Amino acid sequence: MKTSSIALLVLFHIILSLASSFATPNSIHENFLQCLSLHSDPSIPIFTPNTSSYSSILQFSVRNLRFSTPTTPKPELIITALHESHVQAAVICSRKYALQLRIRSGGHDYEGLSYASDVPFVIVDLLNLQSVSVDAEKGTAWVQTGATTGQLYHNIAMKSKTYGFPAGICPTVGIGGHFSGGGYGTLLRKYGLAADHIVDARLVNVDGKILDRKSMGEDLFWSIRGGGGASFGVVLSFKINLVPVPPTVTVFRFNKNLEEGAAALVERWQYVADKLPQDLFIRIVITVENSTQREERTIQASFQALFLGGVDKLIPIMEQGFPELGLTHANCTELSWIQSVLYFAGFPINVSSDVLVDRTPLNPLDYFKAKSDYVTEPISETGLEGIWKRLLEENRPRLTLSPYGGRMSEISESALPFPHRVGNIYKIQHMVFWREKGLKASREHIAWMRRLFRYLIPYVSKFPRSAYLNYRDLDLGQSKNGTASYSEAKAWGIKYFKNNFDRLVKVKSKVDPDNFFRNEQSIPTIPSWGKKN
Ligand SMILES: Cc1cc2nc3c(=O)[nH]c(=O)nc-3n(C[C@H](O)[C@H](O)[C@H](O)COP(=O)(O)OP(=O)(O)OC[C@H]3O[C@@H](n4cnc5c(N)ncnc54)[C@H](O)[C@@H]3O)c2cc1C
Ligand SMILES: *[C@@H]1O[C@H](CO)[C@@H](O)[C@H](O)[C@H]1NC(C)=O
Ligand SMILES: *[C@@H]1O[C@H](CO)[C@@H](O)[C@H](O)[C@H]1NC(C)=O
Ligand SMILES: *[C@@H]1O[C@H](CO)[C@@H](O)[C@H](O)[C@H]1NC(C)=O
Ligand SMILES: *[C@@H]1O[C@H](CO)[C@@H](O)[C@H](O)[C@H]1NC(C)=O
Ligand SMILES: *[C@@H]1O[C@H](CO)[C@@H](O)[C@H](O)[C@H]1NC(C)=O
Repeated sequence: MKTSSIALLVLFHIILSLASSFATPNSIHENFLQCLSLHSDPSIPIFTPNTSSYSSILQFSVRNLRFSTPTTPKPELIITALHESHVQAAVICSRKYALQLRIRSGGHDYEGLSYASDVPFVIVDLLNLQSVSVDAEKGTAWVQTGATTGQLYHNIAMKSKTYGFPAGICPTVGIGGHFSGGGYGTLLRKYGLAADHIVDARLVNVDGKILDRKSMGEDLFWSIRGGGGASFGVVLSFKINLVPVPPTVTVFRFNKNLEEGAAALVERWQYVADKLPQDLFIRIVITVENSTQREERTIQASFQALFLGGVDKLIPIMEQGFPELGLTHANCTELSWIQSVLYFAGFPINVSSDVLVDRTPLNPLDYFKAKSDYVTEPISETGLEGIWKRLLEENRPRLTLSPYGGRMSEISESALPFPHRVGNIYKIQHMVFWREKGLKASREHIAWMRRLFRYLIPYVSKFPRSAYLNYRDLDLGQSKNGTASYSEAKAWGIKYFKNNFDRLVKVKSKVDPDNFFRNEQSIPTIPSWGKKN
């Protein structure tokens, strides 16, 4: 090659590298991709908006249609990590190029925070990290955060008939968000939360390093068991202690509408639900029946129960504790624990638990808005009447009343960031679903939800009006770019975490002082707090 053409080539390279160092969106993109290949291996799956499967990958784990519209902001790219090292590369490179990183496990976040953001962002999607390894001898399991609760339950059942796990009812919920935000289901009164049974974890920190319980220290390990993972790092996997379940459990579902006396039963339930033996969990799901024929509409209360034992033991407990329900043998079904999981998930009880492994939801997706409340004093009859009246204004509202007490009352409020323990009779989950497209419909249904929420002020917990992190609600307060000050973040922080909020801020300030891991409702940093012991 002639000297002149070599010079030309060198010049060409200089121009190229100069061009790519300008901070145009495209060059950030290029540099980011280069960074990924530098810190990873060629197998790292990257989907840009130009990749044909980008949309289907993005949609796959969306559970709320409100955040899947043409105007929903989309990620610059999606990394569907196959190895832990791919997650490390995603953290290192998005930090280097100041792109916000959204972490998605199951995508069930009620406000879509794991896959939508108003600022430029990338997604690290953990759905391929879904291995579950159960040690039935020791009664433990390591579960990767991209697995679902259904995959966990199925894997436990394949290995053991005597162990179960106290996590959520819906089998498509991801372990990553669910466990790091608390996580509860039908075993709540007997065993507490999923987070109460975590004994170790692997996490990618802000420097891209992998830490376990020992190397992260007890403060950070405490934070990711109820404080939400997304403020602290990417949790790769959790080690859990399984819990014993009896060979036979009993379930019932007992539906009553207002004409059949539902109101009095709901009222009565509030006095017994948290006091019944902790082997018995009776929740109420309240919906509107015959919602399309306005004049025939009524409220339906569905009493749904799991009892850890046989029906012969359950009937006397019900006769003594809640005779008003009039439960008989004929209303009950005896099952194995894994069948009860299928039953609550809405599957026929005679199918194989293989169906729990499927990540596709059983029902078609909806638009929805949700909120939560804790109830510490029974709501009066007139209070309940006002609730029925408001529910009857909507087509598809749903209130789920989940009883507390039992094990939940034995665990201290500061044991984990999740503070809702003794003193709560039950939790309400308010939901409203719709299928009409567009902002107008969203605005109307959300406005209805906010009216109901205002109506409930006198009847629910106060100072703070507490809320469950996993039922995320941006109405409680938010920062669009994730840079809320301490006092701004207190708006939601105190509601989700009560007195544990300050400890979370302290840990956050220490492990992520520059606030890389952030979102609309993340834990804020106070630099000086991070330096204190
Ligand atoms: C249909 C449905 C049923 C539900 N049923 C229950 C129930 O029975 N009990 C209950 O307690 N809750 C229930 N939930 C709420 C559920 O627990 C929360 O939405 C939970 O946060 C979802 O976790 P995910 O991984 O699926 O969601 P994602 O949207 O992936 O994540 C939720 C949040 O956690 C963060 N995150 C996710 N993975 C990680 C990770 N690996 N490391 C760090 N941060 C992470 C995300 O960035 C986001 O902020 C239900 C939700 C839905 C939609
Ligand atoms: C995507 O494709 C468009 C045109 O097809 C092109 O202009 C753009 O640069 C591409 N973007 C990336 C990130 O490759
Ligand atoms: C409960 O069982 C009885 C029969 O013993 C039946 O008449 C009643 O309809 C059942 N109730 C419900 C709500 O399923
Ligand atoms: C609901 O509608 C069906 C048929 O339209 C009717 O048979 C039933 O009685 C209605 N239920 C109530 C509680 O009104
Ligand atoms: C389960 O039960 C239903 C009805 O009770 C029956 O139609 C179906 O064939 C059963 N399925 C299996 C796999 O046994
Ligand atoms: C975030 O938003 C706030 C208020 O809108 C603004 O003052 C601040 O500069 C923004 N910070 C960043 C890092 O974008």
